[in-house]
Amino acid sequence: MIEEAPRPGVVLLRLNRPDALNALNMEIRRELAEILARLVDDPAVRVVVVTGDDKAFAAGADIKAMAEASPTEMHRRGLHRLWAAVAEFRKPMIAAVRGFALGGGCELALHADIIVAGRGAKFGLPEVRVGIMPGAGGTQRLVRAVGKYKAMKLLMTGEQIDGETAERWGLASEVVDDDAVLERALELATRIAAGPAVALEHIKETVLLGADLPLQSALALERRSFQLLFDTDDQREGMAAFIERRKPAFKGE
Ligand code: CAA
Repeated sequence: MIEEAPRPGVVLLRLNRPDALNALNMEIRRELAEILARLVDDPAVRVVVVTGDDKAFAAGADIKAMAEASPTEMHRRGLHRLWAAVAEFRKPMIAAVRGFALGGGCELALHADIIVAGRGAKFGLPEVRVGIMPGAGGTQRLVRAVGKYKAMKLLMTGEQIDGETAERWGLASEVVDDDAVLERALELATRIAAGPAVALEHIKETVLLGADLPLQSALALERRSFQLLFDTDDQREGMAAFIERRKPAFKGE
């Protein structure tokens, strides 16, 4: 994993296993989990952008490293604990996707809050083609993103879709030319990094938790989060700046 700090408050993580199209082996998974656990506690870090290279975001779990594994061995690896560090990363996360985002790679993108896809991106959940099924949220997050009939088609056939289709289906926030993907993701990250950090964390938590709650409970959660934000300096700064007709200078407090 390559970790860079290209803009104030923005960390860029590049998956870096080009010989295997960034397939996720235990080493990459552990590294990603450790880095995110560190970044979540660093107040200087406001937004994380995850990307791969021009050929692949990530072509899935490392098939070679699991072809001979027993259920006990898969249990022992405890992959869900490593994924939890991604799922529980409470700051905004953007996936910048060029090339293959397949299987676990597509699932990694599905953990992001915003997906910027290149026109040539290839999204898919092809696990069925190697005799298994997604195991890192693919069956659940994909259906929530695109609905039952599109999700089932991808899951049951293992077909890939390109960036334009992903955007049309709601699996990408935006589609841009492949060579513009990273710049666009960093542009969004920079804008979000200058925002009110506590409000951003509450927005993320409320959207994700609320999606799985009955509407009345979700609305109550939203109401409480909304009210809590009136305890932040950024709320006072944001509203004062509006009234004084100037740009707010959020401090993330
Ligand atoms: N695991 C391990 N190695 C992989 C890999 C993967 N998921 N995907 C690609 N690679 C390796 C290839 O084996 C190859 O290595 P060698 O040169 O040493 O043979 C190298 O990356 C380049 O790949 P290809 O030669 O296959 O490249 P291509 O352009 O012809 O095809 C591809 C690209 C269509 C993505 C093809 O590589 C492919 O189908 N990969 C597997 C995709 C897949 O099935 N992913 C799901 C994995 S299961 C999963 O993810 C489970 C889960 O969520 C829990």
